[in-house]
Amino acid sequence: MAKPQDHEKPPEVAALAKHHPRSRHRRRTVAALAILALAGVLAIGSQTTAVSSGIFGSTTAYQSDKDVEEHAEDLVKAGRQTFRFDTFGDQAFWGDTLNLHQAIAGSANGGVGPGVSPKTALAVGLKVDVDALPAATRDAIAAGNVDLDDPAVTLALLKLNSVVGVKGFFASDGSLRSVGIECALCHSTVDDSFAPGIGKRLDGWANRDLNVGAIVSLSPNLKPVADLLHTDVPTVKTVLAAWGPGKFDAELFLDGKAFRPDGKTAATLIPPAFGLLGVNQHTSTGWGSVTYWNAFVANLEMHGQGTFYDPRLDDAKQFPIAAENGFGHVKAPVDLISSKLPALQAYQLALAAPKAPQGSFDAVAAARGKRLFMGQAACSSCHVAPTFSEPGFNMHRGGEIGIDNFQANRSPTHMYRTSPLAGLWSHQKGGFYHDGRFADLGAVVRHYNTTFHLGLTTAQQKDLVEYLKSL
Ligand code: HEC
Ligand code: HEC
Repeated sequence: MAKPQDHEKPPEVAALAKHHPRSRHRRRTVAALAILALAGVLAIGSQTTAVSSGIFGSTTAYQSDKDVEEHAEDLVKAGRQTFRFDTFGDQAFWGDTLNLHQAIAGSANGGVGPGVSPKTALAVGLKVDVDALPAATRDAIAAGNVDLDDPAVTLALLKLNSVVGVKGFFASDGSLRSVGIECALCHSTVDDSFAPGIGKRLDGWANRDLNVGAIVSLSPNLKPVADLLHTDVPTVKTVLAAWGPGKFDAELFLDGKAFRPDGKTAATLIPPAFGLLGVNQHTSTGWGSVTYWNAFVANLEMHGQGTFYDPRLDDAKQFPIAAENGFGHVKAPVDLISSKLPALQAYQLALAAPKAPQGSFDAVAAARGKRLFMGQAACSSCHVAPTFSEPGFNMHRGGEIGIDNFQANRSPTHMYRTSPLAGLWSHQKGGFYHDGRFADLGAVVRHYNTTFHLGLTTAQQKDLVEYLKSL
């Protein structure tokens, strides 16, 4: 497996590429041809078909079936590591700039304020990976011998790398020096097998307990966020408090819009990151592919250090904050993101949607619901099995599904993406549709019944719900 820096361009090439996208392509092509030629010479010279591949590319022309399978496995393993444990250098933002680590530690441990106890951490939806806890720690927790009101215990959990999606950076004297976040923060949860909030990791599951706004609001220094949004810290706190559990606003730092026209938060639900294989456009408003969005999030939301290019963000009318700050042209001096994108994508696409557990739905009613879904209710005209999104351009205007265009208009597409539906049962908390406007599946079906004049009886609507729960 090649080290990430193997793929990074020398700084002078990177600088050139920034200003001359065409030359960047030409250089890449030339380099790729050179590598291929070299690989050919080596392969012939040594009469070997062994693939000494990096995670991204092979150095030999011929690859056996086994080579390809091993490559896929390497990608998934490397991607899992990134998804779970990589901060992409974002501790420079969450810790070094917002000083979030000081609020976690508390004044008793060299930080500020009361600190974050394990109880508080669990209450704002953070999860603990039981497999990262040594047996002695597990026993002590089970026996009630661990003080879950003590922020020092939170620091110990961070040291064990057991807090899902949060990484502590410690000084040599053991004090918390900084803190960063990982993809798993929002897109993983645990199975609660040890205790509520403590269990085995469930990667790809939406953490609908996580109160991102409350966590960010703890930061002692929110001034950089307020400055970015041309507002003051109290206003930022009001905005963050309005998000609530399971929601985050990925567009706030682009357009500065914090509330919908009806006065409710503009934040959207954290979606699952499983079941995405074969789906074309990603995010509820179809910003791009999985790898597009991964780069977007790592650079612009997590504030990791990398490269990001999207001239659509130069539109100062739609994206005033992004245009002002050049968010469509990010180039950190050291790129900690780009080399990880291929494997990260492979891992995400390998995450299948979890099957609905036996007994969690009425199988007979679900079978009737399936016939309605595929027939009278015409759901399958958009939600096409097995992805339950359209093969092809899976996007619609709000009017086509009977909703407003506020969120669609915060995306360059001005449209909504047909949601993949597999694994719906696992994210019923927080509601459905991008902003959770429908409290449960019954409300979704009632909405379609009215909007599309489907004429479904109450019993038929129930059958449809059972089918949705079975996916
Ligand atoms: C702070 C919470 C948070 C973090 C951290 C986060 N995401 Fe997300 N993610 C979201 C939200 C919210 C959305 C929905 C955005 C939308 O639909 O407009 C989303 C959407 C996605 C989607 C699109 C899913 C779909 O249905 O098409 C993918 C893929 C994704 N995130 C991957 C990642 C990866 C990879 C990382 C780490 C690099 C990451 N996310 C980090 C909150 C987060
Ligand atoms: C015209 C295309 C279209 C048709 C027809 C359609 N849907 Fe949808 N569906 C969508 C789009 C687009 C979304 C995303 C809406 C959003 O995120 O705001 C969606 C979202 C959903 C969701 C929410 C998923 C989630 O994760 O929140 C469910 C459930 C759903 N549809 C079920 C159905 C059912 C049941 C039918 C048939 C009665 C149906 N759909 C018919 C396009 C369609």
